[in-house]
Amino acid sequence: MDTIDAIQTRRSIRKFKEKDTAWSDIIPIIEAGQYAPSAGNLQNWKFIIIRDQKTRHKIADACHEQDWLKDAPTHIAIVAEPYKAHEFYGERGESQYTTQSCAAVAQNMMLAAHNGGLGSCWVGAFEEDKIKDILGFPEKVVCHAIIAIGEPAETPQVPSRKAMHLNVYVDAWGNKGYGDYPKGFKSTAWKEAASQLQDHIHSAAERLKKSKK
Ligand SMILES: Cc1cc2nc3c(=O)[nH]c(=O)nc-3n(C[C@H](O)[C@H](O)[C@H](O)COP(=O)(O)O)c2cc1C
Repeated sequence: MDTIDAIQTRRSIRKFKEKDTAWSDIIPIIEAGQYAPSAGNLQNWKFIIIRDQKTRHKIADACHEQDWLKDAPTHIAIVAEPYKAHEFYGERGESQYTTQSCAAVAQNMMLAAHNGGLGSCWVGAFEEDKIKDILGFPEKVVCHAIIAIGEPAETPQVPSRKAMHLNVYVDAWGNKGYGDYPKGFKSTAWKEAASQLQDHIHSAAERLKKSKK
């Protein structure tokens, strides 16, 4: 699968077929995680592969009762050892670098799952203490994400993305680059966005005026 294709066609999957994930399908996912960039190449992470049904049910409960997680035949907890990054990079290493490295792992894993015909979903909403208890890991390690994996039983619509020109500045915060368009951005799109924004501000101002009368 082409990289850009994989990035654009991966979807969060929350419905799965009742079928165990073969180890041969899990291994490339773990391997893709291992290839994620990490600050100083520290790789200060561990991956816990959860296949046991009872444990998956407990995890679903600890994820604020996201019951759909019970039907995902495999969960992978991405667990970090932040103190290892603290040793080299201090506070920033412990919080920022570790989080960012684990996020790169999560994305790599989901793309690898997609490449192997499996569905996945990143789960970040959970009660850390409960996950710690269920998986039995020590106080000083931190669970960053749980990736649910299995054969997809749904084809979700693509959740819309903001138009590029709404998210991009050129050279400095707030500079939309009017007049000097980067390749790939349609000049009309920039103008449309500006005019839509103007309309929006204008009507908000009108509403405000009316409400004050
Ligand atoms: C940090 C993070 C936490 C997330 N946590 C959850 C979650 O707890 N439950 C869930 O169903 N989806 C979760 N998601 C998935 C997002 O809802 C999903 O990526 C987003 O709606 C875009 O859809 P897409 O992945 O299909 O492009 C999370 C995604 C990220 C990056």
